[in-house]
Amino acid sequence: MSAQNKAKLSGRVAIVGTGHRARLYTHSIATRPSLELVALCDTNPDRMDHHNGLLKEHGRPEAKKYAAEDFNKMLDTENLDILVVTTIDFTHDLYIVPAVKKGIKVLTEKPMTTDVEKCKKILSAVEENNGSVQVLFNYRYNPVHWKVAEVIAEGKIGNVKSVHFEWLLDTVHGADYFRRWHRYKNKSGGLMVHKSSHHFDLVNFWIQSKPASVFGMGALSFYGTEQGKKSGWARDYDRARGSKAAEDDPFAIHLEDDQGLKALYHDAEHVDNYHRDMNVFADDITIEDDMSVLVHYESGVNMTYHLTAYSPWEGYRVMFNGDQGRLEVECIESTHRVPSKKGGGAEGVVHGEKALKNEGHNKITLQKLWGEKEDVPFVWATGGHGGGDEAMLDQIFGPVPGQEEHKSPINRLSADQTDGALAMAVGLAANESFKTGKLVEIKELLGRQL
Ligand SMILES: NC(=O)c1ccc[n+]([C@@H]2O[C@H](COP(=O)([O-])OP(=O)(O)OC[C@H]3O[C@@H](n4cnc5c(N)ncnc54)[C@H](O)[C@@H]3O)[C@@H](O)[C@H]2O)c1
Repeated sequence: MSAQNKAKLSGRVAIVGTGHRARLYTHSIATRPSLELVALCDTNPDRMDHHNGLLKEHGRPEAKKYAAEDFNKMLDTENLDILVVTTIDFTHDLYIVPAVKKGIKVLTEKPMTTDVEKCKKILSAVEENNGSVQVLFNYRYNPVHWKVAEVIAEGKIGNVKSVHFEWLLDTVHGADYFRRWHRYKNKSGGLMVHKSSHHFDLVNFWIQSKPASVFGMGALSFYGTEQGKKSGWARDYDRARGSKAAEDDPFAIHLEDDQGLKALYHDAEHVDNYHRDMNVFADDITIEDDMSVLVHYESGVNMTYHLTAYSPWEGYRVMFNGDQGRLEVECIESTHRVPSKKGGGAEGVVHGEKALKNEGHNKITLQKLWGEKEDVPFVWATGGHGGGDEAMLDQIFGPVPGQEEHKSPINRLSADQTDGALAMAVGLAANESFKTGKLVEIKELLGRQL
């Protein structure tokens, strides 16, 4: 697992992939004088301009813009200390590998990448160049999650024997994965890789073990043309923009209703035809929306895991059975959703940016064998991803001057390339098992032991 966190990072930074998620990093760099955002790289110059606009709002100088094909030129010219990778998932390796070879510290969004070959390339580049990659698993920094890690590490439930984990994505946020590139398995790895790698990383981190074998069943059972026709939710349009039928479709997104989405996608799509508002009941979707997975860990722990992407509420429940007791976690990120319609705003579509208005309760309970249930106290944070984003950024870059540091009592939070590979491997193995109907050994899938 990860090494102790090192000193805070500072210096010259570039971001490759200047979409929505990158805004978090542009903002965090712009608010810390120890960091300088010197270069941006993307296939779409309009989105880079948007980020330069954010820098200007903070009174910071513009960053130099590089087209994607000039990425290596950027590395040769900009004397970078840090590269932040926030492109779409299947392109992460294209940027991680050359930066590692040049000795640049890489911070990459999850998932680290989307297939075994790309994963191997990243691992080899790090090993051969003594490089450094941090996978930005912000969920590790959510105070609920580090409290769970603490309770388990303190032995309060004894040796963990099994885990039962259910994650629900609602029909606003869950639907968002079916409106754009995530809906293609070759671009996102499907939700098992794109989304569940967060959850699989948490389990690896919580129980301090590595996944060994995986069996799974998955289906596209709600989104897609056929399913939409059967349920009666389907409307006949390709994309929401300009469509009458989409105006009161509860599953549609109206980009004009949110300033950030409008600037990044609506106003920039003339460059690259990136349509972020496609109909979720379409027939070209290649990912699953309902997945059941069994994972066996090297420590002997077994996990049952389920992900649904069309739930009326959003959040998760996870339970740990130990030989001294049981730990239960319940986090309700949205109790329900109000159907969207054109002109009604796009709140909560971009997940985790801020806590939702209809956030529910968050609870951790511990029950020792022969004892009564007790609540485990923890400090709840209401920022992006349950406070995980701020805590992660403070740990990596130090706090924003004049602001209190979002501290975590756990030192070993940061995830490296091995953690990134292990989290992703469970999702890849599940995808393989969906296809073959067989149990998949992680060691065989990766062609090596991690
Ligand atoms: N940790 C989290 O909670 C979290 C949340 C959201 C997104 N993410 C991750 O952040 C990354 C970006 O997600 P997003 O929602 O901002 O996506 P996005 O589609 O909004 O942005 C991606 C950007 O990459 C650019 N791009 C596409 N292909 C490229 C290429 N070949 N070279 C360079 N640039 C290219 C696009 O033009 C776009 O500007 C993804 O890896 C995603 O998984 C993480």
